[in-house]
Amino acid sequence: MEIVRAGEEGQTISREDIIFLLSTAEEEEKEDLFKTADRVRHSCVGDEVYLRAIVEFSNFCVQDCLYCGLRRGNDRIPRYRMTPSEIVEAAKNAQSLNFATVVLQSGEDPWFTRERMARLIREIKEQTNLVITLSLGERSYQDYQAWKEAGADRFLLKQETSSASLYEKLRPGKRLLERIQCLQWLKDLGYQTGSGNIVGLPGQALEDLAEDILFFREFDFDMVGIGPFIAHPKTPLGGAANGALDLTLKVLAVTRIVTRDTNLPATTAVGTLSPDGRRKALRAGANVVMPDLTPWGYRQYYEIYPGKVRVKEQGHWKGISLPSGRTWGKGPGNRIRSPKGSQL
Ligand code: 5AD
Ligand code: SF4
Repeated sequence: MEIVRAGEEGQTISREDIIFLLSTAEEEEKEDLFKTADRVRHSCVGDEVYLRAIVEFSNFCVQDCLYCGLRRGNDRIPRYRMTPSEIVEAAKNAQSLNFATVVLQSGEDPWFTRERMARLIREIKEQTNLVITLSLGERSYQDYQAWKEAGADRFLLKQETSSASLYEKLRPGKRLLERIQCLQWLKDLGYQTGSGNIVGLPGQALEDLAEDILFFREFDFDMVGIGPFIAHPKTPLGGAANGALDLTLKVLAVTRIVTRDTNLPATTAVGTLSPDGRRKALRAGANVVMPDLTPWGYRQYYEIYPGKVRVKEQGHWKGISLPSGRTWGKGPGNRIRSPKGSQL
């Protein structure tokens, strides 16, 4: 297809072209899109697949997102909060398994105050040489600043959807602009900043997904996580259809083509939707895998969506067979700025 060729060469793809690419239905055209994204991935970020260990340390959340199993309105899951020393141990475990970076993720849990979190970050930095990524939701500028000073390196905060109306419907009481403000603060503070979206949310149109991709390009994120919506029965969206694997892969592929050198994970959600999902994602633009290293006793309760925990995987990324020509990355997997640049 002409548009994908233009994109591959680094020409700017318009909003209309993005919508067109997301609507491709012919097998051949989809293959062309995925293969092009794979080539852009190869030439802009190389063949290494970076690993990041995730530790989901608290499933308490004050928010009530309609799509998420951790929403405060779900009184059917047991809540847990790992102690700071358990979290340090989990980080040390990640280091002993040769991970160079750990993602500390939780619901929005105010128990982890600015000071407690800063102390925890310092302790992990003292006891390991891990790169630390935080994924703790929306907080104040001062909180983000204190954690950066304590040694945190990266922050993940998905904008979920760029449609303000959809966002505000799905996240009661929250405003999209406030989330974007948080992302701007994180970037200004010098965090390597990651965002992302959910594909296939009820009421989401292709135009909304195109806006997401334009937002990823404009903000020039270091990481972008793209995952399908998976309905959770204990939420108000329990009866809705899941996002489609194909559409998720198309969003991923177009994001690779337009962002060029952004780190894009083959998300857990894509692996939950289909056993082959992460492998397919790695062949359609993704270059990161984030294995779950949450201790076993807690893992089952971090149920954002059902089916997330696969017993067989046993926390080992080795369950994923890499596509040919790819190798596991050894270092922290910083963003490589490609001379082939981001489209502007
Ligand atoms: N399906 C897919 N992803 C979800 N998330 C929350 N609920 C769901 C769901 N039902 C994602 C959001 C959030 C991350 C922690 O999990 O993108 O940022
Ligand atoms: Fe809380 Fe995040 Fe789930 Fe929303 S998506 S309920 S903020 S954990």
